[in-house]
Amino acid sequence: MQIIEILKTEPRNQKVEVKGWVRTKRGQSALSFVSINDGSTIHSIQAVVDGENVPEEVMKKVTCGACISVKGELVASSGSGQNVEVLAEEILIYGEADETFPIQPKKHSLEFLREKAHLRFRTSTFSAIFRVRHHLSHAVHQFFHEQNFFYLHTPIITASDAEGAGEMFRVTTFEANKAPVTETGEVDFSEDFFGKETSLTVSGQLEGELGALALSRIYTFGPTFRAENSNTTRHLAEFWMIEPEMAFFELKENMDLAEQFVKYVIGSVMENCKDDLAFLDNRFNQENKTKPQNERSEHTLIEKLNFVLENEFARITYTEAVDILLQSKPHKKKKFKFPVEWGIDLQSEHERYLVEKHFQKPVIITNYPKDIKAFYMKQNDDGKTVAAMDVLFPGIGEMIGGSQREENLDKLKNRVHEMGIEEESLWWYLETRKYGTAPHAGFGLGFERLVQFVTGMGNIRDVIAFPRTPGNVEF
Ligand code: 4AD
Ligand code: MG
Repeated sequence: MQIIEILKTEPRNQKVEVKGWVRTKRGQSALSFVSINDGSTIHSIQAVVDGENVPEEVMKKVTCGACISVKGELVASSGSGQNVEVLAEEILIYGEADETFPIQPKKHSLEFLREKAHLRFRTSTFSAIFRVRHHLSHAVHQFFHEQNFFYLHTPIITASDAEGAGEMFRVTTFEANKAPVTETGEVDFSEDFFGKETSLTVSGQLEGELGALALSRIYTFGPTFRAENSNTTRHLAEFWMIEPEMAFFELKENMDLAEQFVKYVIGSVMENCKDDLAFLDNRFNQENKTKPQNERSEHTLIEKLNFVLENEFARITYTEAVDILLQSKPHKKKKFKFPVEWGIDLQSEHERYLVEKHFQKPVIITNYPKDIKAFYMKQNDDGKTVAAMDVLFPGIGEMIGGSQREENLDKLKNRVHEMGIEEESLWWYLETRKYGTAPHAGFGLGFERLVQFVTGMGNIRDVIAFPRTPGNVEF
């Protein structure tokens, strides 16, 4: 039985076997207390070891980090903070861990643990994060399944740049410096594995649109890759994105779905991960106290999550957002680093002002200038803006980016040309507008940013098991 199950059972002096990793050992050889955790829950179980029952040479190997099995009687515990404990009769050592085991029972910094990503799962913090991450993933599938969406597996290797932002990781079988070149000196990809230049996908959206224009509602949930050289607490080179795409949805319905979706998955983990969230809440609140006053959150993690569930997201246009920023105190005192004017891409200081100072809740910004958005967004009648939407979250910034899509073939082709994208590379995408086109919309949610918000972790590298960032690919 796993510890999560054992802790739920009524102690009646029955025999149990506990398998897991030693967190702590206290006491002397005559009587010692070993705390064991198997990752199935935040809670550890205590084994009480009488020196008469277990040989000393075995107990010597029961050290922090060792993997053991304890057989014994499950009894009610008189100790505080636990209902049951095991009176050990027999201990088996699966794997020893000597004193060089890096995860000792003391507070380690997150930076230190990042360098030990292969072992950090063994800490309470990281095991809680990865359990919550699992439950969030599960809730994602549940939400869409309940709403008649189909999970579409879009390709990882692709020949197109879905965002047109040129942030692709190349995929090639050519050896370095040995690629054949054409007469004009360019790499001759026709001789490569796929016969053309390929990359890792930045988004499954374009393929997702093909699915939606037949199955009506689809979603993707997979890894995406961006070779952007951003060393921030919000960017990864490899991250997981959830991308629903819906036929017959316009921007308003897209916004409604995004808000409903985020509330559903947050509500679901609050229901199903109470113990882990209580632990993370406590961690967040402790950490919060050590921060400088101006960076300190006025609310606990659980309060922040409840607040999202209970309040409607603010909805404003880009133009309104710019007006608010121009009226804002920081702007009047010229305190924004990047000056605000209509047409700029909102910087994180602007987004933070809007969500954290002005609205103090999630905000959906719509109708951005077309020149700062991707080619596929539906062009508005004003000729200047597109039917885009970004959902911003306090402490996170952009959690979701989406839009209604341009369904008109001529308008879409014009935009493709204007942006200098080769029409030929998108012929299959454009054909959906030629044959039975339909209004449709969708969005992409950065899964790690959602996990960050829910777990209260400040750095995105701490919510994915093996983070990929510039210069980092150790594990
Ligand atoms: O805004 P983005 O670039 O939008 C798209 O990729 C669209 N194709 C989505 C769609 O409409 N189907 O990315 C979507 C989200 C962002 O809002 C952000 O949360 C996340 O993906 N994201 C990243 N997360 C971590 N690291 C990065 N480097 C990210 N880049 C984007
Ligand atoms: Mg975006």
